[in-house]
Amino acid sequence: MSSTTLVTGGTGLLGSQLVPLLRRAGHTVRVLSRHPGQPGDGVQQVAVDLLSGDGLDDALSGVRTVLHLAGGPKGDDVGTRNLVLAAQRAGTVDHLVLISVIGADAVPIGYFVRKALAEQIVTTSGIPYTILRAAQFHELALKTVRAMAKAPILLAPGGIRWQPVASREVAARLAELAQGDPAGRVADLAGPHTYTLEELQRGYLDVLGKHRLRLPVRVPGKAGRAYRSGVNLTAAVPTGVDTWEQFLTAQNLPG
Ligand SMILES: NC(=O)c1ccc[n+]([C@@H]2O[C@H](COP(=O)([O-])OP(=O)(O)OC[C@H]3O[C@@H](n4cnc5c(N)ncnc54)[C@H](OP(=O)(O)O)[C@@H]3O)[C@@H](O)[C@H]2O)c1
Repeated sequence: MSSTTLVTGGTGLLGSQLVPLLRRAGHTVRVLSRHPGQPGDGVQQVAVDLLSGDGLDDALSGVRTVLHLAGGPKGDDVGTRNLVLAAQRAGTVDHLVLISVIGADAVPIGYFVRKALAEQIVTTSGIPYTILRAAQFHELALKTVRAMAKAPILLAPGGIRWQPVASREVAARLAELAQGDPAGRVADLAGPHTYTLEELQRGYLDVLGKHRLRLPVRVPGKAGRAYRSGVNLTAAVPTGVDTWEQFLTAQNLPG
């Protein structure tokens, strides 16, 4: 297969693992992020801020497949709207693949709410699409527990569970989806096990050989209730294969 494929967020954690897979599958890849990068073999780079949308028409020129990965804590709805409007103007895009998050429409936290809006913008765009919702990546789980473990007393929010997944496996699934026909919303992709936040914290501290006093806390409000009810979890199979424990071991953390 030979076509130009736009990967927004192609420089990020997920995108940088996806781009080589697309190259190997024969795609000419155009990576979009806010910062100009060095073009490589079969990989073009465009600097566009999706929040302003300036430059998107050029970025979409000749593109048939878009993998929309760019995102952050804020603005996923605005960026997705700008991207979709530009794709509609281009008229050449016949497959838009969006990465979203499990619980997008059910967890009342800004990031999730904006991801749900982004999904809605894509599903109502008239552009054939595929949406994959993934669980939190191992790297995010590590960042979270590492930040929590900096305090001398470890806050331990009760009832919060995660199913951390290998970003490598999410990238592989996206590459597979980009090769296929638009499939609508596909089965969620989570990691192989469900952990309480306390178990994630303990796994991290065990590897470091550290101990912390724990202070159980209850996350208040709607967000706390949503997490405790498990709307951020999925029963979808197949799951990813790599476990949190394997990920921690591979990090060679100073123990
Ligand atoms: N991390 C997780 O646990 C997780 C779980 C489920 C879904 N997701 C979703 O997966 C996607 C990728 O996550 P990631 O962890 O790989 O993120 P990441 O490492 O933070 O990368 C984000 C990417 O988006 C680009 N970007 C951010 N804001 C942009 C903007 N306004 N305009 C253009 N490009 C922009 C960044 O490039 P520049 O900084 O160069 O602009 C970077 O390439 C995100 O949509 C995220 O919501 C993540």
